[in-house]
Amino acid sequence: MFKKILSYFIPVNLLRKDSEVSQRLEVTLNYGKLVLDSKNTNYSYGSLQRILRKGLHYIGFERIRGFSNILVLGVAGGSVIKTLSEDIGYKGKITGVEIDPKVIELANTYFGLADVPNCTIVIDDAFEFVLKTKDRYDLIIIDIFKDTLMPNFLFEEFFINRINFLLKVNGFILFNTMTLTQKDKDRNTAYREKFSKDYSVRMYPKVEDHNELFTIKKLK
Ligand SMILES: C[S@@+](CC[C@H](N)C(=O)[O-])C[C@H]1O[C@@H](n2cnc3c(N)ncnc32)[C@H](O)[C@@H]1O
Repeated sequence: MFKKILSYFIPVNLLRKDSEVSQRLEVTLNYGKLVLDSKNTNYSYGSLQRILRKGLHYIGFERIRGFSNILVLGVAGGSVIKTLSEDIGYKGKITGVEIDPKVIELANTYFGLADVPNCTIVIDDAFEFVLKTKDRYDLIIIDIFKDTLMPNFLFEEFFINRINFLLKVNGFILFNTMTLTQKDKDRNTAYREKFSKDYSVRMYPKVEDHNELFTIKKLK
C-alpha cells in the first residue's frame, strides 16, 4: 500500500531481471499502476497499452467482437491481450507468441496473463511460428521489439507474404512500429508500398511520440 502511494510521487521499481532478448526487464509501479519496461523503452501497459488500444479502436471494437481467431506476435506483459479480453469483451480464441520465456513468467506473476480465458501462449520466435501454423486469423497484431530495435524480418517480403497468407479475407493486421530516425520513416514508407491493391493500408503517425501504427485490411 505504501509503495502504491509512493508511486504517485516517484516510480517504484519492484523487480529488475536480466534478459538475453531485451537486455533488462523491469516491473515498476507508476501512478499506482504496474508497467513492464525493457532497458530503454516501455514494453507493456502504460503508453504501449494506450498505443495498441488506439489501433484496435481504429479497427473498431464492435468488429473485433465478431472475430473468432486472433494472433498476437510479441506478448511481453500481455497488455493488448487484456485490452481485447477485458475492455473490448472479445470472447474468441487468442494465440500469443513470445520469444522470451522470462517475460511470460513476469506476465503471469505480475499481470495475471494466465487468467485470460481462451488464450494460448506459445514460446517461439514469431518468424518460426508463422511458418508452422496451420490456422487462419481475423486479426494479426505485430508488436515485436528487442528493446527499441525492430528485427529486419518484419519488413521483408517473405514475412509480409506469409502474414498476408495467414490472414482471412476482411481480416486486419495491426502493426506497431517505432520511428526514431529518418531511416525508420523511409523504411515505413517502403513497407506501405509492398501491399497490392487487394489490401487497404492506413498509417497513423505520431501515436504517442515515436510510434507509428499500421492497420491493413485484406479486401479479397
Ligand atoms: C513491446 S513488447 C510487446 C507488448 C505486448 N504486445 C503487449 O501488448 O503488452 C515486444 C515483445 O516482443 C518480443 N519479441 C522480440 N523478438 C521476438 C520474436 N522474434 N518473436 C517473438 N517475440 C519477440 C520481446 O521479447 C517483447 O516481449
